[in-house]
Amino acid sequence: MRTIAMLTSGGDAPGMNACIRSIARTALNKGIRVKGIRFGYEGLMRGDIYEMNVSSVADIIQKGGTILGSARSEEFTKPEGQAKARNILKSFGIDGLIVMGGDGSMKGAEALSKLGIMTAGVPCTIDNDLGYTDFTIGFHTAVETVIESIGKLRDTSASHARAVIVQVMGRHCGDIALYAGLGGGAESVIVPEHDFDIQMITDRIIRGKLRGKRHHIIVLAEGVGEPYEMGKTIKEITGVDTRITILGHVQRGGSPSFTDAKLACIMGSEAVQALVDGETAVAIGSHGQDIFRMPISEAVRVPHVFNESVYELTGMLSS
Ligand code: F6P
Repeated sequence: MRTIAMLTSGGDAPGMNACIRSIARTALNKGIRVKGIRFGYEGLMRGDIYEMNVSSVADIIQKGGTILGSARSEEFTKPEGQAKARNILKSFGIDGLIVMGGDGSMKGAEALSKLGIMTAGVPCTIDNDLGYTDFTIGFHTAVETVIESIGKLRDTSASHARAVIVQVMGRHCGDIALYAGLGGGAESVIVPEHDFDIQMITDRIIRGKLRGKRHHIIVLAEGVGEPYEMGKTIKEITGVDTRITILGHVQRGGSPSFTDAKLACIMGSEAVQALVDGETAVAIGSHGQDIFRMPISEAVRVPHVFNESVYELTGMLSS
């Protein structure tokens, strides 16, 4: 392994920069040359590749976003695009590629491995929707961002005796809503993994109001129901004025939490070591305190398991 390149792909996630730094410095310490690919697979198609040194990754460990830039590439999803990407990597003398991203990014790394490029994938997405790993890099920070917002929304909701629906990200995965709901003390959590019953929510609001509660926080995962319609229905049934906050991309920014920075440092370094050990199409994951490697082909097939007991606990604590 003489030259390793890296790219960040898909939605950015806090901790990506800490991971970039870890990959670069681990490889450089082993005497391996390092190249950065700008704007994900799309930049790779254009040959947007530059040489990195120790200083290229200075002062980025706590920086949000990704210094490499990210993108979603339509061209790369096709076999011709992947063959083109492989040829570009070869023409730059790149033997190994580390991809930081979610499910689609991992699959891209697997495709390139079949074309003769050694690849490793590091799970970076705020959604935590990769079932093979306990946590993805960026998830904890996103949850903390939501919890901070819930605290602020509770202040103003209590002042006006209102309910608030906070819509959070997660695509098809309710983990951000679930854990932010737990840690932020939300009264209701609505996730794609569970059917929801508006009456259960309105009953809870009415019960709370009767015992003098002046706020009601509903954390709603994106893609489950329409928040403005939901807000109107709640007002009609309960008489409680309801406001909507769509947190959106604020959840993707900011400095990584300690948990995400730590995961990024360890997983990035492990990805380099996996390539040095001769592994390819390998996904890096975490389980408890352990970091492990798994073939990407297996990793992307592990279904994400929603934590039912945390869901029940959240509901019980809020009642
Ligand atoms: O994959 C992370 C994610 O933040 C999802 O939760 C969300 O649906 C999506 O990305 C939005 O991404 P973008 O606006 O960048 O297309």
